[in-house]
Amino acid sequence: MRKHIKGNVSWVGYIDWELEWFHGEDYSIKNGSSQNAYLIEEEKTVLIDTVWRPHSSEFVKNLEEEIDLHKIDFIVANHGECDHSGSLPALLEKIPGTPVYCTANAVRSLEGQYGKRGWNFHVVKTGEGIDIGNGKKLIFVEMRMLHWPDSMATFLTGDNILFSNDAFGQHYAVEELFNDKADTCLLWKEAMKYFANILNPFAPILVRKLEEIGKLNLPIEMIAPSHGAIWREDPLQIVRKYAEWAEAYQEDQITIAYDTMWEGTAKLAHALAEELHRLSPDTVVKVFNIARSDKNEVMTEVFRSRAIAVGSPTVSNSYLSSVAGWMEFLKQLKFRNKKAAAFGCYGWSGESVKLLQDKLGEAGFAVIGENVRSQWNPEEEDFAAVSAMAKSLLA
Ligand code: FEO
Repeated sequence: MRKHIKGNVSWVGYIDWELEWFHGEDYSIKNGSSQNAYLIEEEKTVLIDTVWRPHSSEFVKNLEEEIDLHKIDFIVANHGECDHSGSLPALLEKIPGTPVYCTANAVRSLEGQYGKRGWNFHVVKTGEGIDIGNGKKLIFVEMRMLHWPDSMATFLTGDNILFSNDAFGQHYAVEELFNDKADTCLLWKEAMKYFANILNPFAPILVRKLEEIGKLNLPIEMIAPSHGAIWREDPLQIVRKYAEWAEAYQEDQITIAYDTMWEGTAKLAHALAEELHRLSPDTVVKVFNIARSDKNEVMTEVFRSRAIAVGSPTVSNSYLSSVAGWMEFLKQLKFRNKKAAAFGCYGWSGESVKLLQDKLGEAGFAVIGENVRSQWNPEEEDFAAVSAMAKSLLA
């Protein structure tokens, strides 16, 4: 079913209320999601993006109920990832030869995923445009590495809608489609989670891209991403927020993430939380057991933090496997401008703290010298070390 967006633009995507995971099981979905596709019906009829392959039959059927597919003059593929391109094979089987406008890298990703099917690609670059009649144009803006090398945004003049694809999106199902109809808390929570877990590694590129988009002087009146709510009310608020998030963002928060074997490391984590609060009551302190917490939610808390502390006992001359996977993900996300500390209990060899410190350094954190290595169970001197670590994290 189409939903009216603005002018002669309709939403023709898929609201994925049941989705629980994304990117395999690497990104948790708590509030549904959507794959947004858009239909523009001016003198030319244009489809912007499609939906994920499991919904392709429904997508094509719905589209056929709305228009004669042969009326589609061309398709814009802003991004080759299969959540947006997955219905292209089914659609282009029905309308072979329909031009597909995309970046050169998108040709590579689409042919890589679906094979060389002789699709009628038209490669575009930033600033290039195409007339769609009624005095309106589509202008293309390459969004390289936001978040794939093939990513692109498309601006519709006249209606002044930026179809931004993944940028400015959220994994959040909003049947009413618009930001002014969405639950504001969930909208911002999901927008930040999306940024922290997907876009943060590319934050320096994003800063430059936002400047470049600014210089294009596009009179943006609406931002229509490929996931979640469309930014209709004050659309530039999400652009301003991205500018803030992309500049090594932090709040007055410290996040403690740990796993434990026999509760010793858990005791240290809780002692650290209490000490941080005692020393700085206004600082938000959050504690997570890594093995029992959603890693995407915890990484969002790390993103908000000015410092983190990671704890693990020593096991087999290393840290726990739950912590190892988490640390690898932490490194991938390339957080900047944050302090870090390590702590943990041990019985015999006690390597975990040093290894955690090394890994935190590799992940780009400013690792403080203070740490807590507690043999067997935390004792008085260990809690004194917790206090020193808390002071240094807050300094
Ligand atoms: Fe929503 Fe990069 O795909």
